[in-house]
Amino acid sequence: MEKIVSLCKRRGFIFQSSEIYGGLGSVWDYGPLGAELKRNLKDAWWHSSVYERDDVEGLDAAILMHPSVWMASGHVTSFEDTLVDCKGCKKRFKVEHVTGKKCPECGGELTEARQFNLMLKTHLGPIEDEGSLSYLRPETAQGIFVNFQNVVNSMRRKVPFGIAQIGKSFRNEVTTGNMTFRSREFEQMEIEYFVKPGTDEEWYEKWVEERFSWYIRFGITKENLRKRQHEKDELAHYAKACTDIEYKFPFGWSELEGIANRTDFDLKQHMRLSGKDLQYFEEESKEKYIPYVIEPSGGIDRSILAFLADSYREEEVKGEKRVSLALHKSLAPIKAAILPLLRNRPEIVELAKSIREDLRKHFKVMYDDTASIGRLYRRQDEIGTPYCITVDVDSLSDKKVTVRDRDSMKQDRIAASKVKEYLTDKFK
Ligand code: GAP
Repeated sequence: MEKIVSLCKRRGFIFQSSEIYGGLGSVWDYGPLGAELKRNLKDAWWHSSVYERDDVEGLDAAILMHPSVWMASGHVTSFEDTLVDCKGCKKRFKVEHVTGKKCPECGGELTEARQFNLMLKTHLGPIEDEGSLSYLRPETAQGIFVNFQNVVNSMRRKVPFGIAQIGKSFRNEVTTGNMTFRSREFEQMEIEYFVKPGTDEEWYEKWVEERFSWYIRFGITKENLRKRQHEKDELAHYAKACTDIEYKFPFGWSELEGIANRTDFDLKQHMRLSGKDLQYFEEESKEKYIPYVIEPSGGIDRSILAFLADSYREEEVKGEKRVSLALHKSLAPIKAAILPLLRNRPEIVELAKSIREDLRKHFKVMYDDTASIGRLYRRQDEIGTPYCITVDVDSLSDKKVTVRDRDSMKQDRIAASKVKEYLTDKFK
């Protein structure tokens, strides 16, 4: 974990928020390469969830919602941790993490247990009173539920179908740590999949398999993934069943994504509090019902951490340590690096720059001429760049360049004019 945290900071993937002020607890910023990785991950999810399916629409709802939403969803009353404080060292613990009546850190006396709601509060408008109280959403899901009818009507959708959304969520987490794993501001990728009651268990199984194989498709080692079904007493207040997809993080097996059967809980609650009829009318059977919902809910930040941990490699090559990120090509922040071997030979520089101009219209590329070739390769390996293109003296006469593969380190000599086609083929 230390190696990953250090690489993230050194190479511009993830920085602590407000670092120059000593940092803000459990809030993180994505640097230049982290921002690219995050975009690629979101694209991969959106592509497979929305574009590759006939039965899912996208949505981008606001973070701020009517306060009644959180009454209906149960978050105002049930989204709570039970906490105790140590009177000695002042540390705070979740009650389930404490055995006995003493502080697990210093042995000091503990306060009475009290409830702590995890939602972050804010006020809308100029007057800060109860009436202006609002929340930063703790899950993106509710934006989907309240728009269920809008999507059915505007897109003429028939059940079963789903609505997918990626967006920020906020939780005033008490137990934090392990970098972005548990943050107070994070991003979720969620689908609410609406089905006819009675077909929910079948769809639940399907989504568990679908989401499990998605991580493998994008490069996570199968042995580092497992499914864990929730016991009845750990189910969220809205769920009839839930399976976590867990990843073997450097700090142990932990949740990456949860697939829950939310039943008709949310739509029913919104019907109750809004007074609006959110039932679905099935043309074929002339039946009216409240759909059940299967919810695959993953975290972008946790996924990034898992993809980084899973792709991290250390090996010895010709007596030297090589660190590389064997990221799936579609996730790699930089797709190709253009490396001129002699930066003071104008013809080499000209050819290298013309390749860069050609490639940058299609791929995120990087140009680097600031070190020896061995060093340049190592820099790119460490950030997961799948291809390095070197332009050398011979390139001037044979009009060819060398393309080196990150994982096999094999080199191909190909025509400079064909680099774009070569890479397009590799990224298919
Ligand atoms: N809508 C359902 C829901 O929010 P959850 O299990 O609380 O369910 C879903 O969250 C996913 O969101 C988790 O599997 C995790 O990947 C991510 N997540 C939740 N809390 C997080 C946090 N504090 N920091 C980073 N990711 C978090």
